[in-house]
Amino acid sequence: MDINAIQEIIREKYPEKLLSHSLGVEYMARRLAAAYGVDEEKAAVAALLHDYGKIYSRQDQLQIAIDHQIAEEILLQEPVLLHGPVGSWLLQHELGIDDQEILDAVRLHTTGSDCMALMSAIIYLADYIEPGRKTKGVPKLRELAFQDLQQTLLEAVDSTIRYTLEKQGILHPDSVLFRNKLLSLLKKKESGVA
Ligand SMILES: [Fe+2]
Ligand SMILES: [Fe+2]
Repeated sequence: MDINAIQEIIREKYPEKLLSHSLGVEYMARRLAAAYGVDEEKAAVAALLHDYGKIYSRQDQLQIAIDHQIAEEILLQEPVLLHGPVGSWLLQHELGIDDQEILDAVRLHTTGSDCMALMSAIIYLADYIEPGRKTKGVPKLRELAFQDLQQTLLEAVDSTIRYTLEKQGILHPDSVLFRNKLLSLLKKKESGVA
C-alpha cells in the first residue's frame, strides 16, 4: 500500500483532531528518519497509522483485543495503552500491512520497550514532539531530538511516566524497562564504555 492510498484512508476515517495529530507525527517522523538514516517513506506510513486503533471506541478496542488475544492482561486494564497493539493488529488484518517494522512501531508506541528498533523509537518520539503538542518542555526536545536521540527519548519517557503516576494510571513494565535501558546506554556513553 502506497502513501497516497494511506493518506486517502485516514482522511476518510480519522476525526479532524486525530488527522492533524497524525500529520504532525508524519512531519516529525520524516525529519527524524532523514536525520538518523531510517527509511523515510516507511516512517511516514507508520506515523500516519500509529493511532489507527483510535478510530474504534475503547469498548470496541477492548473487544477486538479479547476476541483475538492480542494483548496481555495489563493492557486490557489501561485503555490508553491498548490502542497501540490493537492498532497494529488492525493494520495487519484490515489494511493488509505486513511490514514488521511498521507493525512493531505502531504496537510499541504507547508503552515503549527495551528492545525497540530505531524505526519504533522514531515513531515513539515523533508522537511526543509533533508540532501540535503543547506540553511543557516539548519545544526544547524538538531541538534536542536532532542532537541526542537517546537523551531525548529518555526525557520523553520520563515525562510520560511522571504523567502516568500523577493521574494514578497503570504503568506498563515495558515503559520502565525502556527508561532503564536508555539510562544505562547514556551512562555507558558518558563513561566512554560505549
Ligand atoms: Fe497513540
Ligand atoms: Fe499519537
